[in-house]
Amino acid sequence: MNDDVRAELAAIVARHGDDATRLVQMLRDVQDALHWIPPLAIDELAERLGLPRARIEGVAGFYAFLHTDAPCRYRVLFSDNITDRMQGNQELMAYLCERLWVEPGRVSEDGLVCVDTTSCTGLCDQGPGLLVNGWAIPRASRAVLDRIADLIVAGQPVAQWPADLFVIDDNIRRSDMLLGHDLMPGDALRAALTRGAGVDAEAPANERSWREANVHAAPGPLATLEEIKRSNLRGRGGAGFTTGLKWEACRNAPATPRYVVCNADEGEPGTFKDRVLLTRQADLVFEGMTVCAYVIGARHGLLYLRGEYRHLLRPLQAVLARRRAANLLGTGILGVKGFDFDIDLHLGAGAYVCGEESALIESLEGKRGIPRNRPPYPVTHGYLQKPTTVNNVETFCAAALIARHGGDWYRAVGTAKSAGTKLLSVSGDCARPGIYEYPFGVTVRQVLADCGAEDTLAVQISGPSGVCIAGDEFDRRIAFEDLATAGAFMVFDRSRDLFEVARNFAHFFAHESCGFCTPCRVGTSMLKATMDKIAAGQGTQYDLAEIEQLDRVLHQSAHCGLGHTACNPTLDTLKRFRPTFERRLKSLDFVPAFDLDGALAAARRMTGRDDAGAHLSAELER
Ligand SMILES: Cc1cc2nc3c(=O)[nH]c(=O)nc-3n(C[C@H](O)[C@H](O)[C@H](O)COP(=O)(O)O)c2cc1C
Ligand code: SF4
Repeated sequence: MNDDVRAELAAIVARHGDDATRLVQMLRDVQDALHWIPPLAIDELAERLGLPRARIEGVAGFYAFLHTDAPCRYRVLFSDNITDRMQGNQELMAYLCERLWVEPGRVSEDGLVCVDTTSCTGLCDQGPGLLVNGWAIPRASRAVLDRIADLIVAGQPVAQWPADLFVIDDNIRRSDMLLGHDLMPGDALRAALTRGAGVDAEAPANERSWREANVHAAPGPLATLEEIKRSNLRGRGGAGFTTGLKWEACRNAPATPRYVVCNADEGEPGTFKDRVLLTRQADLVFEGMTVCAYVIGARHGLLYLRGEYRHLLRPLQAVLARRRAANLLGTGILGVKGFDFDIDLHLGAGAYVCGEESALIESLEGKRGIPRNRPPYPVTHGYLQKPTTVNNVETFCAAALIARHGGDWYRAVGTAKSAGTKLLSVSGDCARPGIYEYPFGVTVRQVLADCGAEDTLAVQISGPSGVCIAGDEFDRRIAFEDLATAGAFMVFDRSRDLFEVARNFAHFFAHESCGFCTPCRVGTSMLKATMDKIAAGQGTQYDLAEIEQLDRVLHQSAHCGLGHTACNPTLDTLKRFRPTFERRLKSLDFVPAFDLDGALAAARRMTGRDDAGAHLSAELER
């Protein structure tokens, strides 16, 4: 048995070129082959890669989709976003557990199956979603679960399950300049290559010497960069940094090689537009990455695909192969000597924090996805400490369009401060969930009308780390200057309990905190505990004040954006819908969460005192 395992591991390591930066990919393969990551595999990988055992163990223990606890042939994970809950995931999970005779979260004694929850799987428009050994299944129902249970009991490998279980719809409801474009593969690149006639050599000395030695120094890249800058394109992944400035900083960074990284981690609950772009517009994504490579002078690109989208891996590989065959990737792209660029795909393993660009880079390097200290920023010290441009999937699509049509064409759409269009992932209480592309500046009210939402109480914009808005704000606009968003648009009608929405988000952050820094690790757990306490009818005004205090601490001292935003949804909801919290409070007075006088009982027993002087006065406790 051990020899078989060793042979399997040798093959896996060889397949990844003995390259330790591929560690997460290797561990994923081990998990697939052996149904877990046994201690023997950790020993073997450590030896073969020449890494400390603790490093392999640390990485394997970090990612939710890697398991070191016990072998299990079928891991069924129910997506547990609030929209899945609204679609009945809890009742369905209980049903499957009953059918399979298993306890939630525990591997069955025969090692056959485990049924558990996971964070949002990006199927909110067709939920409830679930994953079986990482393969996504939308629209879970009792009928679907009956089929799944039968397949599991029969021991049918997931690769042989009926294909109709895995059909994921794109649900594109509104297209604009991006989803409706008419570019053919290579059009944007050809435009970039021919652009720039007339751009002269008035460049700084380091730029000039680089030009002499490098195709990327020809006028085309600089002229394309100017168009990206002129377009006013801003990143679509959440932070909204100006894309042209990012590319320019990376291009100007003196070190080489440089890298292009596409962030397709899309872990924000309620967001699924990158899933659809990678399904329908993969050529445009890769074209945008290649344009970026041309501009910044990179030869190597990486696309970090979230583990939940493993079903997209093969189709994306096929698109890459087609592009190589068409000379749109590889050596001498489109016949231009020296224009060499190719793209690798990297599959994540279930960690929301890996969407943060520096954590993503750590993960790409085969490490735990812990965010780095910034500065320095990835544009100078990114992948392997080299200059790296990280952009979101949608940003690269927009960049390809700009390379073809120019910056003025792009900025003519949208608002003065928010150029172009934005893809929204619309889910929740509406008749037509799916993808909506709008010019920036569209009102929330308009989106609600288009998606068939009625009697709407609130909309959560940009997921849990975004903002919750109420009815009197529906004339606000989707734009960087008003409601900035990475794309999630979750609708809640009046039948919904917004306290439970906020509680679900608090659980999400506690689950996804990477644990690296104490304020976030402890703070998100405290927030979760406080929300659970309120839900159990044990909360007081003191707890509400505690949440505000927690928010201040997290904003001041958390290491990354996850911690900074963890209290946002709770506080937003508290601010706008306070009665939904207060209704649950045991007392509207300030009763402390910690019973100080009770805690002194042991001391009273030991000293044999129980007189009034041995008790804290009620006044003091307050
Ligand atoms: C906790 C956390 C999660 C994030 N997740 C994503 C993500 O899934 N996709 C994404 O593009 N950006 C995500 N970001 C933002 C990235 O750090 C980064 O700003 C972005 O990839 C840059 O690309 P852009 O300029 O094209 O937006 C996340 C940030 C944080 C703090
Ligand atoms: S803020 Fe949270 S997610 Fe970010 S590094 Fe600290 S513990 Fe990790």
